Amino acid sequence: MTRPVALVTGASRGIGRAIALRLAHTHRVLLVAREVGALDALAAEIRTSGGEADALPLDITAPAQIAERLHNQHVDVLVHNAGVGVMKPLLDLTPDEWHRMMDVNVNALFHVTRAVLPGMVSRGRGHVVIIGSIAGRSAFVGGAGYATTKHAVMGFAENLMLEVRDDGVKVSVVSPGSVATTFGGRTEPKGGGQLLADDVAAAVMAVVDTPPEVLLHRVEVRILSPKRPRA
Ligand SMILES: NC(=O)c1ccc[n+]([C@@H]2O[C@H](COP(=O)([O-])OP(=O)(O)OC[C@H]3O[C@@H](n4cnc5c(N)ncnc54)[C@H](OP(=O)(O)O)[C@@H]3O)[C@@H](O)[C@H]2O)c1
Repeated sequence: MTRPVALVTGASRGIGRAIALRLAHTHRVLLVAREVGALDALAAEIRTSGGEADALPLDITAPAQIAERLHNQHVDVLVHNAGVGVMKPLLDLTPDEWHRMMDVNVNALFHVTRAVLPGMVSRGRGHVVIIGSIAGRSAFVGGAGYATTKHAVMGFAENLMLEVRDDGVKVSVVSPGSVATTFGGRTEPKGGGQLLADDVAAAVMAVVDTPPEVLLHRVEVRILSPKRPRA
């Protein structure tokens, strides 16, 4: 039987990699990021365990590349996961850092969605899942750039959801708290009190795996208590 197709951006590591591994149980996964070696290794790992996967190296800040590689690409589930974060007070944030966060976290939503949404609408079904953040509804010192992009994600997702739900296309945002990855250049996890990438992947699967007429639009994923060590 032909598997439905899921495209995951930022699949080369962290949360995107965990999402791709989970989705690979039921979907053929298209793995998007810039780091070709990591994508090839993940595709090989998935194939070895009986799944279907293809590496699709792509810089999602390059609209022409997106149009060229994704135009007419059949995608049933699109997971916008790629993201960058530079946590600095506004006056320390360089224009390059600001624009990079806007390009990866916000502008890419426009370009990648535009490439694959027409197919979903014409088939009358599909699902766009965006990885937001709790920073998408709360502020913190150092969040003037990053939290702004994640607030924009919430607005984008709700507007798009209202626009395409009558076409049978679902739009969801999964917003995690802190996750133990190398996000933002962290060299090691903050230690205790963080989610694991696979916790977020499990939430994405729950969102994707709802009955056809049911939509989980916004989901926050938190560690139960930062004070309780993980079993
Ligand atoms: N970690 C956290 O605490 C946390 C909390 C809440 C929300 N989030 C969100 O979760 C998502 C994933 O974060 P993570 O922790 O997994 O981060 P990560 O480990 O740093 O991974 C980021 C991913 O984004 C990809 N990426 C970055 N720039 C790209 C570009 N121009 N084109 C294509 N891919 C690009 C990277 O791949 P390449 O470098 O290979 O291109 C990488 O696969 C982000 O949206 C982040 O905002 C994270």
